[in-house]
Amino acid sequence: MRKVGIVGVGEYLPQRVLTNADLEKLVDTSDEWITTRTGIKERRLASGDEAVSDLAINAAKEALANAHLNPEELDLIIIATITPDMQFPSVASIVQNALSAKTAVAFDISAACAGFVYALSIAQQFIGLGTYKIALVVGAEKLSSVTDWQDRNTCVLFGDGAGACILKEVKSGGIISTYLGCDGSKLELLNLPAGGSRLPASHETVNARQHFLKMQGNELFKIAVKTMTDAAEKVLKQAGLKFSDVDLIIPHQANSRIIMAVGKRLGLSEDKIFLNIEKYGNMSSASTATALVEAVKEGRVKKGDIVLLDSFGAGLVWGACVIKW
Ligand code: ACO
Repeated sequence: MRKVGIVGVGEYLPQRVLTNADLEKLVDTSDEWITTRTGIKERRLASGDEAVSDLAINAAKEALANAHLNPEELDLIIIATITPDMQFPSVASIVQNALSAKTAVAFDISAACAGFVYALSIAQQFIGLGTYKIALVVGAEKLSSVTDWQDRNTCVLFGDGAGACILKEVKSGGIISTYLGCDGSKLELLNLPAGGSRLPASHETVNARQHFLKMQGNELFKIAVKTMTDAAEKVLKQAGLKFSDVDLIIPHQANSRIIMAVGKRLGLSEDKIFLNIEKYGNMSSASTATALVEAVKEGRVKKGDIVLLDSFGAGLVWGACVIKW
């Protein structure tokens, strides 16, 4: 297998900011509750005429510029999303056309909050085997389009955004190991019931608010801590590394209490944990992606550093990845 590394990063966050104070006017909640229970202070909302592909295209353009590459040089595009523009065709097809990446193979994957790490792993296999040379991987979500703004249990948690990276063969470093998992026995903990082939859209499904995301947060919380800890341990063991070798863990940003609990179990000091949840909330596949991008932009990731990505979400699915930067 060839060595595969990330050679460019980009992100796009919509302009509109929704603060906890704004949410206090919508539902029975408080800045104090949201901050202490989740770590979130504000989140970004895409505008009515912005779809997920628009967020992804902007993030992709920044990543391509950062990698000093033209779209025509891409031969693989993978978009991780659970909020596509439409059921089909894929967001990846829309992005391919918008970028004029004419020779790129393009498809979406659905792995919720672990989608970005799943997509990285897929791209790594293709490039590692020599099937494709240069890949664009994007985590992009418009969760505001599936959020029930009358449900205080969920509407305070989510936001919109996109993070992108360019992968290609590198001489040294790059992705050292990836670890993916799935437990399909707990679909009821987090899902969007209607709009698919099981419950196509009807007056009844709309009236029953079944086109909005449903979550049993409390149950998921415990599973998230355990699963993310386990995934981090497994992927590091696979990489032949110890936790003392890790320079920065970049976890999925669902809840700062989950992240801190995982960090504590792994014995990582707070300065080795990357957090940006206070600005963006949970953006599902876009969370780990934008957190990686911002860690790089802020200089928290330097050449030679060992970076650990760790994510968990609906499915249930999880994915971890060790990268030598
Ligand atoms: N404001 C005020 N009170 C609230 C709010 C709110 N926004 N939301 C819930 N409450 C209340 C509840 O009604 C409950 O009140 P009660 O005790 O009178 O019944 C109380 O607060 C406690 O509710 P819990 O659900 O037990 O609160 P918890 O501390 O578990 O926090 C949260 C909820 C933030 C959702 C947390 O459980 C969590 O982060 N879960 C994990 C989410 C996750 O990891 N999801 C997977 C990834 S996401 C993806 O894949 C798209």
